[in-house]
Order: sequence, then structure tokens, then C-alpha cells
Amino acid sequence: MAAPIIELDDVSVTFREGGRTVDAVRHVSLNVQPGEIFGIVGFSGAGKSTLVRTVNLLERPTGGRVVIDGQDVTQLRGRQLRELRKSIGFVFQGFNLIGNVTVGANIDFALRAGGVPKERRRARTRELLDLVGLGQKADSYPSSLSGGQQQRVSIARALANEPRILLCDEATSALDVETTEEILALLRRINRELGITIVFITHQLEVAQRLFDRVAVMEHGEVIEQGTTFDVFAEPTHETTKALAERFLGVAVPRQLLPELPAGRLIELRYRGDAAFEPIISTVAQHHAVAVNVLHGTIEYFGTRPVGTLVVLVTATQPGQDGARAVDEALDDLAGRVLGFRELTSRTADGIGLEVDEVLEQEVTA
Ligand SMILES: Nc1ncnc2c1ncn2[C@@H]1O[C@H](COP(=O)(O)OP(=O)(O)O)[C@@H](O)[C@H]1O
Ligand SMILES: [Mg+2]
Repeated sequence: MAAPIIELDDVSVTFREGGRTVDAVRHVSLNVQPGEIFGIVGFSGAGKSTLVRTVNLLERPTGGRVVIDGQDVTQLRGRQLRELRKSIGFVFQGFNLIGNVTVGANIDFALRAGGVPKERRRARTRELLDLVGLGQKADSYPSSLSGGQQQRVSIARALANEPRILLCDEATSALDVETTEEILALLRRINRELGITIVFITHQLEVAQRLFDRVAVMEHGEVIEQGTTFDVFAEPTHETTKALAERFLGVAVPRQLLPELPAGRLIELRYRGDAAFEPIISTVAQHHAVAVNVLHGTIEYFGTRPVGTLVVLVTATQPGQDGARAVDEALDDLAGRVLGFRELTSRTADGIGLEVDEVLEQEVTA
């Protein structure tokens, strides 16, 4: 692997407010490789924004080191700090455009701050707006643009001084689904064509799935899990990552459907979508006196790699104790052959007793 472009080494950030201290980031170490799209996910309050702000020292770590391109920048001040910030663009959830000047003036402002001479700024503004597909909007005011267009302007502005790194904090969280997809496509293009390394924070897994090469999951200021996006979400090891993945990948079985099912046990299985799954089901059905019925299935792609989710009903082919034991054994066997295994129901005397958890319930009612 190449030398990392961003290296966070045991970074901590503690806020003091009155007599209270908040450990917003605790001993985080991670590396971002040049040219990759690295994501940070986690629930609200996990410390994501604070962590990403340490990269350009908008937040100075109270412990640890920030290394950019091999240089320890943790203690930079003054002109050197300004130079560093020029090489790192920042995009926010709320766009943060200046409202009382035109789109072109917003970009011009950033160019001026970056020391670009007046005679070059006009052409460069034009070039940046063309890059984000807003070549016609230089004279418009931000308030006359849609949310997606405003975010494009803010991306153009972040790129004004030719940064090598782009930090995005919930940059799509205020946008609808189609607009989010457009912004993600733009960011992918910027990453590929300009070779800009992107660090993107989000609580939206559908964004993580589409955009990130690698991902770190944060909770209570710590990174609890990191790896390729596929590995982290196809085979999460930490409970919080499992909960995030479940929210996203979990299959909703309509409650109305359940009473009509014959007796049996309802199981949600997760498996690598590129592995053949049919043989697993038939092997389990052959080796144990059970029938396995597939009720529902989905495939989600992480980059180009598929993760499958199936809901199956496993029923005994013989009555009584023997049948129940065969089902138990079959489920153990099945659980050992898949990435994820979750029981959605338990068997009761009258058929299926519901043990649908909160997540499923939310999805069913949504
Ligand atoms: N400037 C600040 N002063 C005091 N506490 C802060 C400050 N910024 C963030 N926090 C606290 O740090 C924790 C992490 O916040 P944040 O980094 O914004 O999380 P996230 O972006 O994952 O939602 C939260 O408990 C938050 O209230
Ligand atoms: Mg945040």
C-alpha cells in the first residue's frame, strides 16, 4: 500500500463546558490512502464531525497526532495552518453559502482567500461551475437554487484552491433521494478524474453503500470497526454495526402475512451474494428432516459486491419432538454456513409466536 495521505494517530478530543467534560473522540487511529473514498458512519453524537474536523485542525486534538502526507501538522499555526487548510476542501450538510452575494461571488471569495490573482479568478470560477454542471448560474443568488444545486456550488467552492483532500460532513443528509444520487455521482467523478481523496461522514447507510471504498464505524467517540465497506456491513462484528446493517439490509415481513404461515421457524439469513446459495439450502434440507421455504429475498450491492438477504421458513417433515429436534439441528447447521443469522419468530403451540424486534416493526409500519 502507498503511504497514507491522512494518518490519525491515537487522536482524542475532549471538550470542557463549565465543569463538564465531553470525550467527543477517544484514541482514534486510522489511515486514509491517497485516491480512496473513506467513510465514517455512526449514529448521531458518535463523534464523527469532531473527528473529521481534526483533519484540517478546525478542531485541535487534545491528544494524539494528525499527519497529512507524512507531515505532522498537529501543532501548525499561522501561515502554515492556512496553507494546510487550502489543501483540504470542506463540504457541509447545510451548504454554508453566503446568501447575499451571487454564486460566482461565493466562488470568487474562496479564490481570493486562496490568493488567486484577480485576472485568473473569473476564468477559474467559470471552470469550477462548469465542473459541477452549473456553468449558467454564476449570476444567480443561492436562494434561487435548489438544495442539490446549492450543494454543487459548495462543492465547487471547496475545490477552488485545488485541494488534494475533500472532507464532507453529512453532505447529502439534507437532500432527497434523487438529488443525493446526483451529488454522489459528482463526488465519484471528482474522486476519479481529479484524483481527490474524499473523507465522507454520514449516518445514511445507503450513501455508505454507494460511495465508500472503506469505512470506519464510530460510537461514543471510538472507532469500533473498520474495513472495506462490503466486509464491514456484510459481516459486522460489533453490535452497533450489526444494528446499522440490520436497519439497512433487514427485510420486512408484513405482520399480516405471519399468521397465515404454517408452523415453522422464520429465519433471516445474510450471505455473500457472489457465493452460490442454492446448494446450502438443499444440503441443509437433505441432511435434516426439514423443509426450507424461501419467502423473500433481496440483494444489495456494496460497490460491485453483492450481499444477499433471505427470509426462510424452516419446518419439520415429521411431527412432535423428533421434528422439533430436526429443526433445531438444521438451524444450527444453517447458521454455521451463512454470514448472518437472525430468528424472526419462535415456535409456539398455535403456530408462529411473534418475536419481531423493534427494527422490523418500524419497517413494517413505515
Ligand atoms: N464544541 C463543542 N463543545 C462541547 N461539546 C461538543 C462540541 N462539539 C461536539 N460536542 C459533543 O461531542 C459529541 C460528539 O459530537 P459530534 O462530533 O458532533 O458527533 P456526530 O457528528 O457523530 O453527531 C457530542 O456529545 C456533542 O454534544
Ligand atoms: Mg455530525
